[in-house]
Amino acid sequence: MSGSATLGLRAAGVCVAVTALALAVSQFVPETAGRAQRLAVHAGALALAGAVFWFFTRRLSRSLAEVIAVARAIGSGDYRRRLHLSPGGEFAELAEAVNHMARGIEANISTITDQKTQLQAILDGMREAVLVLDAAGRVRSANPALGRIAPTVGSPLGRRPIEVIASPELQMTCDRLLADGAGPVEGSGAVTLETQLGPGRFYEVSLVRLGIGGTPAEAGVVMVFHDVSETRQLSRVRRDFAANVTHELRTPLTSIKGYAETVLAAAPELAPEKRRFLDVILKNANHMSKMVDDILNLARMEDGQGASPDARAEAGAALADAIRECEPQGQARRLVLDRQLPEGGVAVACDSGQLTQVWRNLLENAIRFGPEGSRIAMTAETDPVRGVATFAVLDQGPGIPPEERQRVFERFYRVERHRSKTPGSTGLGLAIVKHIVERHGGRVWVERGRGEMSGAAFHFSLPLARTADPAAPVAETATEARLATPAQSS
Ligand SMILES: Nc1ncnc2c1ncn2[C@@H]1O[C@H](COP(=O)(O)OP(=O)(O)OP(=O)(O)O)[C@@H](O)[C@H]1O
Ligand SMILES: [Mg+2]
Repeated sequence: MSGSATLGLRAAGVCVAVTALALAVSQFVPETAGRAQRLAVHAGALALAGAVFWFFTRRLSRSLAEVIAVARAIGSGDYRRRLHLSPGGEFAELAEAVNHMARGIEANISTITDQKTQLQAILDGMREAVLVLDAAGRVRSANPALGRIAPTVGSPLGRRPIEVIASPELQMTCDRLLADGAGPVEGSGAVTLETQLGPGRFYEVSLVRLGIGGTPAEAGVVMVFHDVSETRQLSRVRRDFAANVTHELRTPLTSIKGYAETVLAAAPELAPEKRRFLDVILKNANHMSKMVDDILNLARMEDGQGASPDARAEAGAALADAIRECEPQGQARRLVLDRQLPEGGVAVACDSGQLTQVWRNLLENAIRFGPEGSRIAMTAETDPVRGVATFAVLDQGPGIPPEERQRVFERFYRVERHRSKTPGSTGLGLAIVKHIVERHGGRVWVERGRGEMSGAAFHFSLPLARTADPAAPVAETATEARLATPAQSS
């Protein structure tokens, strides 16, 4: 039987027992006793029962009052209050239960307070500014580092992000994240954007939506501002340095090449030894000149503000230009260039000059590494659903070992450990390819070729160009692409 039931029964039982006892005692009053005496005995017995009843109810109400007082104190935040009722008393078990609850709340509150203090210390010590928005898109909290980004704003609490940080882009992103509500978001609900806040101050802002899957009231956004101004400044210095040095190298290199060529042409009677020296000078000057051009090229591309959104190129035409440039090298090694691009063409969102560079670099490599008299294939596949075209240059050369397949796209990286030094190679071609493809929103990778084309298989993807008429489906181009696959050799 539970404690409270026992307690109630015990109180009622004692009252009933005392009343019964009083009534029983009154039975023993002798017959001879007068009416007044009988009444006195009855009254005495009832008075005794009443006194016992009063005693118990008073005790009960006192205990109850204490329980109520302690519960109220705990409810209003005094988690240290406890009930001190006599052990074995009516409310001993209730007191123990209330005290247990109070101890639990106190322990949980203390854990939460510790965690909050820790979190606050972390936020206060962070170099990155942090801004937390509530479900209504108002600033709920911010750390002191925010003062460095928005020094004149005063207290940001309760304001909208745009009132704190003058970036419409940031405000729009917050609105978009909050508008998603408790509904599903892409990925983890995190977005990163880069924004300029003042002259020369660039920030990478990570925005994370709060309360994904929770109630709308739990929603909000956390923004963390990473200062990337210094990194930007350093890479600009590096790019400027590379561009300036290579630019300065061009003039002396041009004279070395010019003089070497002039002497070689003007003096046919030159001794073979001297002719060989001049050839070496010319060959190395040409090599350096190519390297200088490549470094300049990369520096210029890195300086650009990303690809133009209107860029559009026909992949087949760009390939034809690249083939024209590489033809002499291909013919010298008797290679067969097998173009397998659709006749209807594949229009991609890429600068056409840069697409020619991509094809040319991949073709140059295939020509250099493919065995003499072998075949090089160039293919295209379109995926209208994803809006992507994927191209490939396949050769019959030694291929690229799996462990080198990531690194070949790094600047100056060459897989020459197992191969003799390749003349005229700088290790910049694939870095340029990667740069161009990625700045146009594509991807480049290399695999081992299959079947007859078992050498290197370089693939790159690019977004399909948007058709001029939005109603015209890109799929049409793709159907053409699949149907028309003439194998052309040049
Ligand atoms: N088709 C290929 N077959 C085998 N190895 C390749 C092929 N293409 C590239 N490689 C390897 O990847 C390295 C990097 O290629 P990348 O085009 O970047 O430089 P490179 O051709 O050596 O010099 P550059 O292109 O600047 O003249 C090459 O040195 C070579 O070792
Ligand atoms: Mg190359």
